[in-house]
Amino acid sequence: MARNILVTGGAGYIGSHTVLQLLLGGYRVVVIDNLDNSCDIAIKRVQELAGPEYASNLSFHKIDLRDKTALGKIFASTKFDAVIHFAGLKAVGESVAKPLLYHDNNLIGTINLLEIMVANECKKLVFSSSATVYGWPKEVPCTEEFPLSAANPYGRTKLFIEEICRDVYLSDSEWKIILLRYFNPVGAHPSGYIGEDPHGTPNNLMPFIQQVAVGRRSALTVFGSDYATSDGTGVRDFVHVMDLADGHIAALCKLSDPSVGCEVYNLGTGKGTTVLEMVAAFEKASGKKIPLVMAGRRPGDAEVVYASTAKAERELKWKAKYGIDEMSRDQWNWASKNPYGYGSPKSGASLIAHI
Ligand code: NAD
Ligand code: UFG
Repeated sequence: MARNILVTGGAGYIGSHTVLQLLLGGYRVVVIDNLDNSCDIAIKRVQELAGPEYASNLSFHKIDLRDKTALGKIFASTKFDAVIHFAGLKAVGESVAKPLLYHDNNLIGTINLLEIMVANECKKLVFSSSATVYGWPKEVPCTEEFPLSAANPYGRTKLFIEEICRDVYLSDSEWKIILLRYFNPVGAHPSGYIGEDPHGTPNNLMPFIQQVAVGRRSALTVFGSDYATSDGTGVRDFVHVMDLADGHIAALCKLSDPSVGCEVYNLGTGKGTTVLEMVAAFEKASGKKIPLVMAGRRPGDAEVVYASTAKAERELKWKAKYGIDEMSRDQWNWASKNPYGYGSPKSGASLIAHI
């Protein structure tokens, strides 16, 4: 089993939850992150959650992936068995306004990482791709064989990186690469001690609902109520971040399988949920009313997107355990304890009591 794991972007939302599960699974973890969309409090909280037995197996370096010299030093100091590559910019709207920033950060960062991995004979990679590579799917559920397209520069960086990974594998079959296409990650660790803390106005549904519930915003704008769905609102495949974290452990284990080359797996629940169903689940979990403003469709949005999970179930032996009620419960637990995310006034003692 791989033991020394480099995690890029490990201070971020999905990264921090995955790092915790790695530590609890006995892995030694080095996180690099430039903290562009995260903060080091997340790392400290992961260490606290991991407990004294495992906390010292985590080290953190504030490094930008585009800084090749710094990256080289990390690889010179540790022999990594595998890399989990989360680091990247992910705001769709920002990517439309600043395409060069997205191509520079996501593509150059990844190319640097792959070059340094080659130079250091580390050829096992798990990469954070996205359901965005299915564009506007013509049918659902989305299987891994569906045609790929991109609706915006962010999506294009995911598509290009997937292609780069396939080329790298074709050039050298010693590589083992798993591309994980996440659907819509939501929820938080059940302790409420780590969770999603987006900088600025949230783009995504759940962080927005959460900020309405804690009084930071007055209402949720629902983008589109005339879709051909049960209640007219868009349908997505929401997946608990703890399930995603476990999906990464499953992918790491799969990298030891001799048959693995460059593989792709969807990580979702296989169930579609409308925006209004998600609002109702959150209202039930939180006891808070979420005021709604019905608006037109958001440009670029697909109508219905959900995953086929058969391949991940069959080959990774991974299946999401949690439904929207647990996702909402844990999202609310995190939000109510940290209404301003990691910038909330410290209430560590009471949080620790819940661990
Ligand atoms: P996040 O923003 O919370 O985490 C990404 C982390 O990468 C951040 O901590 C950020 O500071 C860091 N980072 C960005 N550029 C960097 C660079 N050049 N060098 C070093 N660190 C850098 O996002 P997340 O939700 O945890 O997403 C993780 C990955 O999963 C991303 O690649 C994202 O595109 C992908 N993904 C996310 C979603 C989602 O809805 N959250 C869906 C599909 C795919
Ligand atoms: N929505 C609202 N109001 C909001 C935010 C979202 O009604 O304030 C709706 C959207 O219109 C959509 C649904 O909620 O119907 C989900 O929207 P999100 O922005 O939460 O998620 P998307 O499916 O649009 O996109 C997300 C990420 C992408 C990623 C994709 C698949 O933002 O980067 O999931 O993983 F590619």
